[in-house]
Amino acid sequence: MSTMGIDPTLSLQPLLGEISGESAFTYLALARELSRKGRRIISFGIGQPDYVTPAHIREEAKKALDEGFTGYTETAGIPELRESIVYYLNSHYKADVDSSEVIVTTGAKTAIFVALASYIRPGDEVIIPDPSYYAYAQVVKLFGGKPIYVPMSFEPGYGFRLDINSIESSITSKTRMIVLNNPHNPTGAVFTRDQIESLYDIVVKYKLILVSDEIYDNFLYGNISFKSVLELPDWRSYVIYINGFSKTFSMTGWRLGYLVARREVIPKMLDLAVTIYSCAPSFAQRAGVAAIKGSWDPVNEMVKEFEKRAEILYRILSESEYIDAYKPQGAFYMFPRVSKFLSKTRMTVEDLVRRLLYDYGVLVLPGTAFPETVGLNHVRISFATKTSDIIEGSRVIVEALREIAG
Ligand SMILES: Cc1ncc(COP(=O)(O)O)c(C=O)c1O
Repeated sequence: MSTMGIDPTLSLQPLLGEISGESAFTYLALARELSRKGRRIISFGIGQPDYVTPAHIREEAKKALDEGFTGYTETAGIPELRESIVYYLNSHYKADVDSSEVIVTTGAKTAIFVALASYIRPGDEVIIPDPSYYAYAQVVKLFGGKPIYVPMSFEPGYGFRLDINSIESSITSKTRMIVLNNPHNPTGAVFTRDQIESLYDIVVKYKLILVSDEIYDNFLYGNISFKSVLELPDWRSYVIYINGFSKTFSMTGWRLGYLVARREVIPKMLDLAVTIYSCAPSFAQRAGVAAIKGSWDPVNEMVKEFEKRAEILYRILSESEYIDAYKPQGAFYMFPRVSKFLSKTRMTVEDLVRRLLYDYGVLVLPGTAFPETVGLNHVRISFATKTSDIIEGSRVIVEALREIAG
C-alpha cells in the first residue's frame, strides 16, 4: 500500500510518456460530436474509403461464420490466405515471395508494430521522411529508439519527393532503419522508380533495414509507375514489407494486414505476434482470400472514382491564392501548403483547422498530425469521401480562407 508519492497504478512505463495517439481520431470525434448536435459536417478527415466492403467479400465472411469457422487459426494466418497473398504479390509485382515468408496480422498497424519491435534496440536511430503516418515513430520510441525525421521536399504544382541526399547525410553509426511509405500518407506522393532505387542503394551501402509500408499500392493515378521494394534485388537481406486489406478492399474494420520478411526471422516474429494477438480474426481471413481471388471490379471502379475526385479537388483548391495545391499521384490524400494564409493571418494550422470545423463545418486534418515540422504549413485532405461533398467542401475551404484572410 502506498502512503506517499504517487499511486503505483499512476506510474506508467516512462517510454509510454513519449508516445502519442492518432490525432485523426481526435478530430474525428470532435466532428462526430458536432454532427450529433445537428451540425452538418463535411469530412475530409478520415483515411478510409467511403465504400462498403464489396459484397462477395462480405458473403464469404458470412459463409465462414455459418460453417462455424469461428476459432483461433495459425498465428501466421490460414494457409489459403498466405497463399493468396503470395499469389497477389508475385502476380502484381516481379516478386518471388514464398508463403513461409508471410505473417498475417490484425491490420497493417500490427504489422508495423511487429516489424519495428522485432528490430529496434534502445538508442537505435530510425530515419522517417517527414511528414509521415504517425504510427512508425511511436513504436520506435516505445522500444527506446529515436526517430530521425528527414523533411521531404515540396514543389508547388508537383507535390512531394524524398530528399535522398538529406537522408544519406542523416545516417550515423546508430542508424538502424529507414521507414518508407509508398504511395504516401499524408502527401499522396508516389515515389519514382529512380528515387526508390537511390534509396535502396543507400540502404545497401550502409547495411540498414528498409521497412516499406505499401498499403496504398492499388491507389495509383494517371500513368504513374509504381515500384515495390519486393522488386529490388536481394530484398530479403534488407527489406521488411508491409501491406493490408483495409484500403484496397475497403476493409478497415476487419483488421487484416500482413508483413513479409525473410524465412529465418519468421519464427521469432511469430513468437511476438502470438503474444500480441494470437491470430487475425478467422472469418476475416476467409474474407481476405475472397478479396484477392474474387473479382477486382469493385476495387478498380473505386480507384477510377478516386482519380476523378483528386482532379476535382485539385481544380477547385487551385483557385485559391492561399493554397499551394497539386495533383495527388496515389493514396487518397492531398497535403497542400497553406503557408501564405498562415503568415497573412498569423494563425497556426491547428487554428485554421478549428475555424474550418467550427465556423464552416468542414473537417481537414492539421499537418502537425504527421507528426513533425513539415506539417506546420500544410493540411491533409482525404478525398475518400463522396464526390458531391468534395465539390461543396473544397469550395467552402476556398471561400473560408478568402473570408478569414480578409
Ligand atoms: C500508411 C498507413 N499504414 C498503415 C495504416 C493502418 O492500416 P490498418 O487499418 O490495416 O491497420 C494506415 C491507416 O491509415 C496508413 O495510412
